Amino acid sequence: MSQDKPTVLVTGGAGYIGSHAVLALQQAGFEVIVLDNLVYGHRDLIEQVLQVKLVVGDTTDRPLLDQLFSSHSIAAVMHFAAFAYVGESVTDPAKYYRNNVMGTLSLLEAMQAADVKRFVFSSTCATYGIPKSSPIPEDHPQHPINPYGASKLMVERMLPDFDVAHGLKSVCFRYFNAAGADPQGRLGEDHQPETHLIPLVLQTALGKRSHISVFGTDYPTPDGTCVRDYIHVLDLAAAHVLGLQRLLDGGDSDIFNLGNGNGFSVKQVIEAARRITGREIPVVECDRRPGDPPALVGSSDRARTLLGWQPQYADLDQILTHAWHWHQQRHG
Ligand SMILES: NC(=O)c1ccc[n+]([C@@H]2O[C@H](COP(=O)([O-])OP(=O)(O)OC[C@H]3O[C@@H](n4cnc5c(N)ncnc54)[C@H](O)[C@@H]3O)[C@@H](O)[C@H]2O)c1
Repeated sequence: MSQDKPTVLVTGGAGYIGSHAVLALQQAGFEVIVLDNLVYGHRDLIEQVLQVKLVVGDTTDRPLLDQLFSSHSIAAVMHFAAFAYVGESVTDPAKYYRNNVMGTLSLLEAMQAADVKRFVFSSTCATYGIPKSSPIPEDHPQHPINPYGASKLMVERMLPDFDVAHGLKSVCFRYFNAAGADPQGRLGEDHQPETHLIPLVLQTALGKRSHISVFGTDYPTPDGTCVRDYIHVLDLAAAHVLGLQRLLDGGDSDIFNLGNGNGFSVKQVIEAARRITGREIPVVECDRRPGDPPALVGSSDRARTLLGWQPQYADLDQILTHAWHWHQQRHG
């Protein structure tokens, strides 16, 4: 019955964004195999919620990849697997270059050997570094200021070379801040450790943390706190399905920002979370953190125009409501 459905290998599919992409792929009628080493991923989400095949393994394990590609008819790869802690990448850069760069290289080589030629890649706005203009377009210069961003940019540099040499077609998405959760509460953000603002704010609302630290209140922004572009994880997942379909339809390689185009300050996020949760969220104001740009907002016009992507959940309250629902269930 499922033989006509193309099979997509989703690396990092047990993680936050990957798991939502698996759900979107299932809803769009694709077969999915997840490859995840479970260093940060959640087995229960794959086995109990999504109920797809999970291969526990690492992208650096070339024999495993070869075996995977030879034993399944895989039409395309969506590659979410990476380490993504900016601070850790500064103190342990080798860990990031090994996992994010060498892991991806091994995956691309295995794809080449198996003649799999469609690749959707999770890149990041961290490849831009300190923005010179806002909203940031795709042709903005890329000067990452940490090894995490550099590791993603290295992969971005590989992709056109694999296209020229081997005809590997890729869609590269540079995400801004992923946030929110499946509105039905089946999936959500559960990083351990957590460094992202919205889950930290909601954990504080749940009483799991004593306060939320606000780093810097003297930035040149309307209320002095950093401004970021929060994109609902479901909108990210939907863009991935569109990007994949474009490649399966014979489309060429391309690069797209994925943000919602609206910036929200740290104080705005906290205020909205107080309103939505009805809970106290104590704040401690701290000094700026080195390397935090005042504002990071993306222009996603290319994705809208060329992929027909239309974010459904651009409203901050909606993003927070879905995330709150998930956090109450998972950690309440
Ligand atoms: N969360 C964001 O806001 C954001 C923003 C920009 C880019 N990204 C990128 O999106 C992707 C997914 O991010 P996320 O927030 O879902 O992270 P996540 O940590 O929740 O998911 C990553 C998954 O990859 C797995 N993994 C890591 N290295 C692996 C390897 N070598 N082999 C197999 N599995 C491996 C982890 O166990 C985890 O399940 C990452 O590539 C990240 O760099 C995320």
